Amino acid sequence: MQPQIEQLRREAEEQIRSVANVSQLEEFRVTYLARKGRIALLFDGLKGVPPDQRPALGKSLNELRAHVQQLHDGKASSFATVTGSASLDLTQMGRRGHIGTKHPLMQTMDEIKSIFVSMGFGIADGPELEDDYHNFGALNFPPDHPARDMQDTFFVTRDVLLRTHTSPVQIRVMENHQPPIRVIMPGKVYRNEAISSRSFCMFHQVEGLCVDKGVTFSELKGTLISFIKQFYGSSLKYRFRPTFFPFTEPSADIYITCFICNGKGCRMCKQAGWLEILGCGMVHPNVLRNVGYDTEKFTGYAFGMGIDRIAILRYGIEDIRLFFENDVRFLNQF
Ligand code: DAH
Repeated sequence: MQPQIEQLRREAEEQIRSVANVSQLEEFRVTYLARKGRIALLFDGLKGVPPDQRPALGKSLNELRAHVQQLHDGKASSFATVTGSASLDLTQMGRRGHIGTKHPLMQTMDEIKSIFVSMGFGIADGPELEDDYHNFGALNFPPDHPARDMQDTFFVTRDVLLRTHTSPVQIRVMENHQPPIRVIMPGKVYRNEAISSRSFCMFHQVEGLCVDKGVTFSELKGTLISFIKQFYGSSLKYRFRPTFFPFTEPSADIYITCFICNGKGCRMCKQAGWLEILGCGMVHPNVLRNVGYDTEKFTGYAFGMGIDRIAILRYGIEDIRLFFENDVRFLNQF
């Protein structure tokens, strides 16, 4: 058996030299050192050896095993010094990194922003945690207005809440600037609504505000029609319908022909053939007075639109919650 032991030693010494990575080292270990490896087989062979030769052969075998183990460990630590960790294989091929894309909501938001910027609007920002005064009071909501109800608003304390719309940013802008003002105010808003495929407790709005001497309803119409044509296409039909908001008077909702069914009526437009895309109106004199503006001198218009619904319609998305799940299989499609 002694020659076999010598033979195995030579083979192991030769093979360890060609081991170049962690997986080859593991192969080496399995071949020689594992429980069913070649050294273990020789140990098994001891049983068939005459008893008087066993101690000497056993000793040689133990030495062989220690030697091969050393060869293995030496190689393992040489990998470890290179990589800092024996389990890291520097010779492995690199993995291709994933390059992200802009979130579909932000793509929509950016497009809207650039249209208004091209029409001379600036961009303003406000806090998502608001006080009751900016979210409601200053915007001419009567104290008992249903929108203040706990069902719609996430209150943090009696006076602090998550803003339910971007309109409070109007107030903050006017408190800090004198007319002329021409800004849009994009951001997140929160409402305590039942979550479903059509509505989520957080969504996005773009608010707009223009205040100056002699601003009229026709300026509002001209600006918003220009926006609609640039964003949705110049051949789309639109219409203004009178409505009510506490902070504007007169107020209107703007509808466009449902581009899913082309006005015929479908699930998306609830068979109406029209989609409501934004609310707007002339800033209520009470709102202007609340920020200390002279209502004899200045008038203004404002508007607000939800972004998530626009993006849903645009990309044909079935469930609004997909926007916020961060599933790369969804996000990769945009
Ligand atoms: N704040 C309104 C909402 O959340 C949207 C809105 C309507 C904003 C009319 C305005 C406006 O500035 O003039 O539903």
